[in-house]
Amino acid sequence: MKNTKIAILGAGPSGLAQLRAFEAARLAGAKDLPEIVCYEKQNDIGGMWNYTWRTGLDKNGEPVHGSMYRYLWSNGPKECLEFADYSFEEHFGEPIPSYPPREVLKDYIMGRIDQESIRKYIRFECPVRWVTFDAETQKFTVTVMNHKTGQQETGEFDYVVVATGHFSTPNMPYFKGLEEFPGRVMHAHDFRDALEFKDQDILLIGGSYSAEDIGTQCYKYGTKSVTISYRSQALGYEWPEGMKEVPLVTHFEGNVAHFIDGTSQAFDAVVMCTGYLFHFSFLPDELRLETHNCLYPENLYKGIFWQQNPKLIYLGMQDQYFTFNMFDAQAWYARDVIMGRIDLPALAARKADEKQWVDEYAAVKTVDEEIDFQAKYIRDLTDPTDYPEFEVEQQGEIFKQWQKDKKVDIMGFREKSYRSTLTGTLAPELPKPWLEIMDDSLEHFLNLTLVKNKKKNKAAH
Ligand SMILES: Cc1cc2nc3c(=O)[nH]c(=O)nc-3n(C[C@H](O)[C@H](O)[C@H](O)COP(=O)(O)OP(=O)(O)OC[C@H]3O[C@@H](n4cnc5c(N)ncnc54)[C@H](O)[C@@H]3O)c2cc1C
Ligand SMILES: NC(=O)c1ccc[n+]([C@@H]2O[C@H](COP(=O)([O-])OP(=O)(O)OC[C@H]3O[C@@H](n4cnc5c(N)ncnc54)[C@H](OP(=O)(O)O)[C@@H]3O)[C@@H](O)[C@H]2O)c1
Repeated sequence: MKNTKIAILGAGPSGLAQLRAFEAARLAGAKDLPEIVCYEKQNDIGGMWNYTWRTGLDKNGEPVHGSMYRYLWSNGPKECLEFADYSFEEHFGEPIPSYPPREVLKDYIMGRIDQESIRKYIRFECPVRWVTFDAETQKFTVTVMNHKTGQQETGEFDYVVVATGHFSTPNMPYFKGLEEFPGRVMHAHDFRDALEFKDQDILLIGGSYSAEDIGTQCYKYGTKSVTISYRSQALGYEWPEGMKEVPLVTHFEGNVAHFIDGTSQAFDAVVMCTGYLFHFSFLPDELRLETHNCLYPENLYKGIFWQQNPKLIYLGMQDQYFTFNMFDAQAWYARDVIMGRIDLPALAARKADEKQWVDEYAAVKTVDEEIDFQAKYIRDLTDPTDYPEFEVEQQGEIFKQWQKDKKVDIMGFREKSYRSTLTGTLAPELPKPWLEIMDDSLEHFLNLTLVKNKKKNKAAH
């Protein structure tokens, strides 16, 4: 353990979970903690939650990481993503509704971090350029561009934790005729403000969370009509008048999109809600994870350790029902391996374990089974560590109810309340319909929803 050096790449929720895991060990009196350096491309912590108005390139000429937009609200109940060591109630001083807007969630994520003790490890505006591993010395070399000094820097490490996220590099398909489409053609990654599409007829291509959420949000902020074009399966919700789903686009002629069912329609703009690529431009082939958005990426032991070289650790590479608590579960497990508290088995046993999970995942058919699968995965990680006990299976049941609530009312599901598995408190109701709350700022949301303790609430300051 002595003199062990770790590089954490990325200071989003996953990278912060890794920093917090070591901090928890330090607070519990652990000696011989490793030396940590966290390299972050942006100029602040928070990852995807660090909202930016920028699209394209950032001020340093690096690809903008953020895919989040104004007016974004949590799409899942907050009761399913609570950190086990820090409840929403503890943070806000009293219970808040189950679906908070983006700024409120960010405030919560930041609240459980002792910023002073964590920031000192982070090197901001330092995008990672290249990582290599020397089999002889058993060390990684990490090269970053330090935009603050204008110089490249190189460091040697025993472990590298890749926490750079996988919802940032757009998957942008081509459809014949797009080059002559007269309006805006963009990817969800660059979507920022629904008001841009007020009074327009827009086409969203893709059939998952981005299509559903950008569609409902545009409807809320006055888009004339929203058409969602799906490839494999319709989302199947009961859409309000002005929203509909159609099968996949075949091609465009001018501003008219043609669909495989033979129908066609003119549009003002096209938003590709077609997901993201796993993109690790800083990793050589032998270290690079290649996968798609799924619950159990192959080649990772416990969904974390690169099989061919388990000193390379990946966090948060799964598709995500659970988020912050899953990243914690992974980070605590990775910490305990690094600190020698958990022994890694030999490669054959690691592969056998992975195969068991991958096979089990292949047999999963329904959304409920997917939720159970991810809950079981988290339980498998938390059981051997000292991460505080939490009822992940019960949170899974809340996710199943969330699915049902969306089926009943896709425009109103955010008005539902659930009980925290940490505090036992039932969340208060949203005081107004979600469709009527146009100001989603932290201040407005807390003014609307908090009744007591307003002054005590550190977030409101
Ligand atoms: C539009 C959208 C909405 C979402 N809404 C929700 C929601 O409501 N609730 C929820 O729980 N989850 C939501 N998510 C999921 C989200 O991915 C997770 O909440 C979380 O942000 C993932 O954390 P992460 O640290 O793994 O990745 P990220 O948050 O993506 O952070 C990765 C970090 O790595 C940095 N980085 C990237 N490349 C480099 C490099 N080369 N060098 C150095 N640093 C680098 C980035 O700058 C970033 O800070 C949403 C995702 C998207 C795209
Ligand atoms: N408010 C919120 O909290 C919020 C909002 C938006 C997104 N998110 C999060 O962001 C993450 C990413 O969601 P996402 O919807 O962007 O990605 P995703 O879940 O990976 O879905 C990608 C979609 O794109 C479709 N697609 C891919 N290639 C296509 C092609 N060539 N032609 C047509 N369709 C294609 C896929 O269809 P197939 O099914 O056919 O493969 C799928 O429906 C999720 O974790 C989600 O929770 C959250």
